[in-house]
Amino acid sequence: MTEAGWNDVDRYLTDTLIGEGDSDVLEANSAAGLPAIDVSAPQGKFLSLIARSIRARRVLEIGTLGGYSTLWLARAVGPEGQVVTLEFEPRHAEVARKNLDGKGVGERVDIRVGAALETLPVLAQENGEPFDLVFIDADKVNNADYVRWALRLTRPGSVIIVDNIVRHGAIVDPAADDPSTRGSREVLELLAAEPRLDAIGLQTVGSKGWDGLAYAIVLD
Ligand code: SAH
Ligand code: DHB
Ligand code: MG
Repeated sequence: MTEAGWNDVDRYLTDTLIGEGDSDVLEANSAAGLPAIDVSAPQGKFLSLIARSIRARRVLEIGTLGGYSTLWLARAVGPEGQVVTLEFEPRHAEVARKNLDGKGVGERVDIRVGAALETLPVLAQENGEPFDLVFIDADKVNNADYVRWALRLTRPGSVIIVDNIVRHGAIVDPAADDPSTRGSREVLELLAAEPRLDAIGLQTVGSKGWDGLAYAIVLD
């Protein structure tokens, strides 16, 4: 099966198990000139199911873009929950704010604008309740540092998810040594080496091509 087939299957799964899938948000993002690198609808729903499986009330997201994944997570935490999402580009944050307010979940989403390596220490200093789930989906070069911060901001039982670890197979291509691919390898090596984490990577195909995510739990 080709990438066109993967796309058809994603559409079928979306139609069958989700419905409309908030495509208006994706249209707003496209109209605002944002790159179409959001999670797919099935990936978004999967994230929300993970959040609901662990009854997550506090979620940290690194990499907001137009807030499409944020919307799935915000719905999953419920009206009493909170999503803190970190975004470098003020323009992306602005679009996300509008999308999330428009969907009625704006009050439960705290968008922090700035480089995540600068906003994460601020978040740590606030000494809030630990996060139940962390979704890492920003610049891949800093992925290992984001996992180190996630460890500081979570508790045993929390879940850490890292997006885009396969990159169309680049992860195992010795010729691929761009900073993003190196960042993805580095984060997997950290997940393997870190005694406080147990983790696996899972490949995915679909409308976003061939990619994958890492799933880690914080151990007792
Ligand atoms: N999670 C989103 C997609 C995020 S795309 C979704 O699925 O809908 C990656 C985002 O990370 C982009 O908006 C980009 O501007 C942001 N980003 C890149 N470098 C960053 C950094 N250093 N700190 C915070 N955000 C960053
Ligand atoms: C890219 C980034 C993402 O977070 C993603 O899901 C897909 C692609 C990118 O930078 O190309
Ligand atoms: Mg991603």
